[in-house]
Amino acid sequence: MIKVKNLYHSYSNDTNYSVEDINFEVEKGEIFGFLGPSGAGKSTTQKILIGLLPLQKGEASISDYNIRSPKEELFNLIGVSFEHPNVYRKLSGLENLEFYRKMFSVKTEDPMKLLRMVGLENAAKKKADGYSKGMLQRLVFVRSMINNPKIWFLDEPTSGLDPNSASEIKKVIKEKNKEGATIFLTTHNMYIADELCDRIAFINEGKIELIDSPRNLKLKYGEKLIKVEYKENGKLKKESFSMVNDKDREMLNSLISTGKIETMHSQEATLEEIFIKVTGRGLK
Ligand SMILES: Nc1ncnc2c1ncn2[C@@H]1O[C@H](COP(=O)(O)OP(=O)(O)OP(=O)(O)O)[C@@H](O)[C@H]1O
Ligand SMILES: [Mg+2]
Repeated sequence: MIKVKNLYHSYSNDTNYSVEDINFEVEKGEIFGFLGPSGAGKSTTQKILIGLLPLQKGEASISDYNIRSPKEELFNLIGVSFEHPNVYRKLSGLENLEFYRKMFSVKTEDPMKLLRMVGLENAAKKKADGYSKGMLQRLVFVRSMINNPKIWFLDEPTSGLDPNSASEIKKVIKEKNKEGATIFLTTHNMYIADELCDRIAFINEGKIELIDSPRNLKLKYGEKLIKVEYKENGKLKKESFSMVNDKDREMLNSLISTGKIETMHSQEATLEEIFIKVTGRGLK
């Protein structure tokens, strides 16, 4: 559905690249995540794919449309939720959606239905100027659904949202994906990537370090730990044991045989821990 080959981009039109030799393919119906810290090149890649930045070097296509010479039909197929909410502040939420839907030459969704979906029905007639950050974020999110996109670009869709709204947004993303939408999601939030994505690309300093499913990443790079709480001389103690270390396994076995264990949990490595292992830096 999305194919990217040897993609480079320099904001200064020289060899100072913000993204460098990016290669990946997104299958139809997949949720593909771009996970990386601030400045990694996530939004730059998305902006090139949606035609907001010119394709300087490399190849990219979306649903067999070459993005070097994009056709209008392509824009009817895609939806884009931007990192920074770019709405008309003097228009209400409803007016923003009414205005936006006119740009498409395909059937569009009912704006009120979309606003209800993200809890903005009571603010529908209020000027966007008076919206909070989270409300604006939800408005650009539903705006990106107005043409019922087959390919959906989501740049940090839950940033700045409270846990309830974030979980509503995640639910909508999962539903749309079930209905067949292919999704390109960029984030520096490992929980979102882990929960939603079929495959994740780790991007750091403009380069993709690896691409795999969250499960495979954990199996390949994660060290399984068993966290144990036990009583010793009347005091509660905590210890973690690695399941890939013989000595740790022996110690855990002997602890189990004492019968003093109070709680025991297995813990997988988080995507951030794996990211650090692979790239040498965190996601902040
Ligand atoms: N308009 C611009 N002009 C010049 N440099 C830019 C511009 N936009 C981004 N950059 C630079 O390109 C690099 C990649 O930025 P980009 O916005 O793609 O990162 P990101 O991964 O989306 O980060 P974040 O998580 O903060 O959104 C950064 O070094 C950034 O400073
Ligand atoms: Mg960004």
